[in-house]
Amino acid sequence: MFGVRTLALSAVAGLITSILADHTDQSVKQNALKHVDTKAVGEHIFQLGDITYFTDTIHATCEQAASGPDTDGSLFPITHIIADTPVVTANFIEDVISKYEQEDDVFNADFLQAIFFTCFNASATLDASAIQYLSTLNPSKLILGKAFGDHASNITGSFSVTVLSTTNAASLPPGPLVARSEDCGLAISTVYRLYTDDTRAFVDGVYPTSEGQRFAVKDIFNLQGIITTSGSASWTRISEPANVTAPAIRRLLDLGGVIVGKTKTTQFASAAEPWVWDDVYPPLNPRGDGMLSCSGSSAGSASAIAAYDWLDYAIGSDTGTSMRRPAAVAGVYGQRPSHGRMTLEGVTPISYSTDTAGVFCRDPYKWVKFSRLWYTPALYQDRSLTGLPAYDVSHGQSLPKRILYPVDYLPLKNPAAENILQGFLTKVTRAMNMEIEQFNWTASFEKLSQPADFNLARLLANLLVMWTHEHYELVGKSLVTMYEARYGSYPRLEPPMRDRFRSPDYSSAEHEAAREIRRLAAEAFEQQVLYSTADTCSESIILSDISTGGLPAYREEKLNLSPNASFLAPPGIAGTSGDFCPFFGCMDVTVPIGQVSYWSKKTLREETMPVTIGLIVKRGCDLMLYDLIEKLADADILKTVNTGVRAF
Ligand SMILES: *[C@@H]1O[C@H](CO)[C@@H](O)[C@H](O)[C@H]1NC(C)=O
Ligand SMILES: *[C@@H]1O[C@H](CO)[C@@H](O)[C@H](O)[C@H]1NC(C)=O
Ligand SMILES: *[C@@H]1O[C@H](CO)[C@@H](O)[C@H](O)[C@H]1NC(C)=O
Ligand SMILES: *[C@@H]1O[C@H](CO)[C@@H](O)[C@H](O)[C@H]1NC(C)=O
Ligand SMILES: *[C@@H]1O[C@H](CO)[C@@H](O)[C@H](O)[C@H]1NC(C)=O
Repeated sequence: MFGVRTLALSAVAGLITSILADHTDQSVKQNALKHVDTKAVGEHIFQLGDITYFTDTIHATCEQAASGPDTDGSLFPITHIIADTPVVTANFIEDVISKYEQEDDVFNADFLQAIFFTCFNASATLDASAIQYLSTLNPSKLILGKAFGDHASNITGSFSVTVLSTTNAASLPPGPLVARSEDCGLAISTVYRLYTDDTRAFVDGVYPTSEGQRFAVKDIFNLQGIITTSGSASWTRISEPANVTAPAIRRLLDLGGVIVGKTKTTQFASAAEPWVWDDVYPPLNPRGDGMLSCSGSSAGSASAIAAYDWLDYAIGSDTGTSMRRPAAVAGVYGQRPSHGRMTLEGVTPISYSTDTAGVFCRDPYKWVKFSRLWYTPALYQDRSLTGLPAYDVSHGQSLPKRILYPVDYLPLKNPAAENILQGFLTKVTRAMNMEIEQFNWTASFEKLSQPADFNLARLLANLLVMWTHEHYELVGKSLVTMYEARYGSYPRLEPPMRDRFRSPDYSSAEHEAAREIRRLAAEAFEQQVLYSTADTCSESIILSDISTGGLPAYREEKLNLSPNASFLAPPGIAGTSGDFCPFFGCMDVTVPIGQVSYWSKKTLREETMPVTIGLIVKRGCDLMLYDLIEKLADADILKTVNTGVRAF
């Protein structure tokens, strides 16, 4: 699994240098580069000390040397320092290296074996303090960009000096790199640190050609050059590498994000529990005893975010519950945005009537910041896909004053978890000047003015019509036809797709009727239940538990039948309030609010599992909810969660 480095150096200034003291000590020995493996042509795996790295020399940047010694053609680690001043001083070098030490988990002192300076200015030099300081770092090589050429002759020390005559280095990132002599000159390539995927959350690692915050992508989003597996071995067998990256992911690359890999999903992003997964080993949820359900379908993304400090964000999707429930069991932030907020072009679909894209994160501020940037109006879906009215924008910017507590879905089953929820609500209402009121989903469904005479069960049955019809038309039909033509047999499928892809359950007319019923219901819902006012986008916020009410749900089916455990999804539709936003198109986010202990049937001791709550607002009120999340983080009510066994 490939990890990559991330550095946003320009944003940070003047950090102090306590760690650096270790490296100014000449007695510190640098580890020699040890070759481990050569993968595809040009891909090398090597170690420095105990740490394993990867580099892709095919995409190296080649620089010509004007002067300096030849090397023997083997790879050597280098540290690239970009000067923004024509006179480089000891303080400058010390500050930069200190920043690398603190912010870059790829960098360490082993990369100081060769130090490489480039400069924005046309002409630059190292002053006497810089040269003095360099000798304490004990590099064996100094490589100087073209700008240093004029003054290179007075730069000497116990190192060889190579002066470059080209300036391609501008395209190289600052920090750790590797280089070697090739026919073209000095070939310098980006270096990645390799991490082990203990949680088994990833299908593949990938490495990028740009720098930025690291993110992982659920393996239903196309990445150019890579087969999208969609969690299905049969699908993989009939698929070619994608020729275009999905626009949702393109947007993130354009914003400077770095994709580190594609994460596992259930077959075709279904809601399957771990014991149903057939083609893929289900990711391990790192929380608690490590044997709790990872849920589905965005399980790899949620597990990876809950497990790995080196990962900043992970992309998933939510058709029925697929962002919110994995976020709940992993104890991380994750949203189902308002329906239509992100194009799903280039993404393996279930249902255009209900599919949405979301992002998992541990840090509420980073999560909000990412979401505000990602969901840009240019990427909103066309209303012909969503089948819903245009977003209402005729409202004020205040926060809602009411939080609705659904009496038919709460309290949480585990009283200890309900206590945490009550504590959370007390803090929120106090800090935000809000009130809690009781609310009844079942009754509010019955009261909707249109469509006439529907109850909750009959209304939500239309969800199933949209899901199954669209899934068959968009995926099932072509999968079965292509697979049978090529391999002469029905594709290997998990339930419920095994039956669903055989023949359509509903006609196109029934499908159209279901979409129309949903449109009418959403229109009424947005006038009568969750509506905008002159002050605010969403008059209230509705609480939602998409999880187990604070009881452990294990990845082993039978354990969930015992009294102090729970299945995540009760059978049938509307078993949790998680089905309501897929139907009405509203926004539902999962936020971690605490943790409870449980007696683990696997480890036979007390363990800790996260408690989360869903916050539902009217469709189109995403920005308002992000504002609220930020305010709750400011008030220290929402917090950054940890990776690993305990979220808090
Ligand atoms: C050196 O380059 C930096 C960055 O482009 C610029 O801000 C600075 O003014 C330049 N200094 C001189 C003396 O040219
Ligand atoms: C090298 O020469 C430049 C220009 O003459 C000067 O500014 C710089 O201080 C010199 N460096 C040393 C180490 O003498
Ligand atoms: C990508 O592949 C699809 C399906 O094979 C094809 O229709 C499309 O033209 C291709 N796009 C590009 C940019 O090559
Ligand atoms: C919610 O409303 C339904 C339908 O009106 C009613 O049957 C049910 O008792 C209510 N639930 C609670 C907890 O009040
Ligand atoms: C369930 O939990 C309660 C409270 O911890 C405990 O008293 C009871 O024995 C447990 N029941 C089972 C079947 O494990």
